[in-house]
Amino acid sequence: MKPTATFAQRLIAWQKNHGRHDLPWQVRDPYRVWLSEVMLQQTQVATVLPYYQRFLVRFPSLTDLARARQDELMPYWAGLGYYARARNLHKAAQLIAQRGFPTDQQGLMALPGIGRSTAAAIAVFCFEARAAICDGNVKRVLARHQACAEAVNTVQGERVWYSKAEALLPKQDLVAYTQGLMDLGATLCTRTRPRCSQCPVQSDCAAYASKRVAEFPVKQARLKIQTLDLHFALLRQDEKLALVTRPQTGIWAGLHCLPEYRQEHQQARVSYSHPVFQHRLTHRLLHIHVHEVAADRHSLDGPGMVFFPRAELHTLALPTPIKTFLQNLNLQ
Ligand code: ADE
Repeated sequence: MKPTATFAQRLIAWQKNHGRHDLPWQVRDPYRVWLSEVMLQQTQVATVLPYYQRFLVRFPSLTDLARARQDELMPYWAGLGYYARARNLHKAAQLIAQRGFPTDQQGLMALPGIGRSTAAAIAVFCFEARAAICDGNVKRVLARHQACAEAVNTVQGERVWYSKAEALLPKQDLVAYTQGLMDLGATLCTRTRPRCSQCPVQSDCAAYASKRVAEFPVKQARLKIQTLDLHFALLRQDEKLALVTRPQTGIWAGLHCLPEYRQEHQQARVSYSHPVFQHRLTHRLLHIHVHEVAADRHSLDGPGMVFFPRAELHTLALPTPIKTFLQNLNLQ
């Protein structure tokens, strides 16, 4: 290879000789490419392979997926995690069935569950677009090659990483280039123990030259998440439910909510405690306990407690996890 070959030229040549060519989604079929890219978000190839094959046996075409009920997808996703992906896939299939498959990055990004990088991958692989993928693997490759200390896990950093990824795009051979970036990140420029000796862009890798490969990519430290236990009382009276207005400061300030069940209420008779569930706020992880309390005891009576008819609950602003909890109990 000429020493003057660009980053893209070296990557393309390497992909053609050493990259992956037999992955089952390496076909020019938008449905298959889209399905694989969604499954491969946060999930490795080896894990995805059997799920991908099983999914396609059950839903061989986009029409089959669009016609299915959402709950029919779930058994085919169980174990892959991030279930919002399956729900979005189903919603997007119905939109595509009506309007056709978008053929550019912008149009793809308008579909549920397709972000900027996934849209770029589909547009490149199916429609030969000139668009930049920029997922975690790509950011790691670029961070090392340029010894760039911009954090890879911040919203502000995304702009920087996309502009770097776009600046490197070749004019042609976008499919081999894009697959090459994915292959390099997955097989050589790995998170731990990278195989720099085999890397096609080692000769001008800034991190390698300064023996700092292990220092990149840089991540911004996450704030430590505090766990907080919250106890609520579920107090029913006929078709009514006791609610309070939350104080104007603190968690869920000003929203309607179940009354908190505190130490001083211990004399209120608990007939049943629901399974504890979690809810994540920005800096806190809530463990929410809900106790059914006998309504004939008024020891919970506090300022501002009101019994609302169940039929009116949907008109109130309730915290999301409480709303979901009540919906699951068919109380709202
Ligand atoms: N990761 C994300 N997209 C991929 C693809 N098309 N092939 C291999 N790994 C991937």
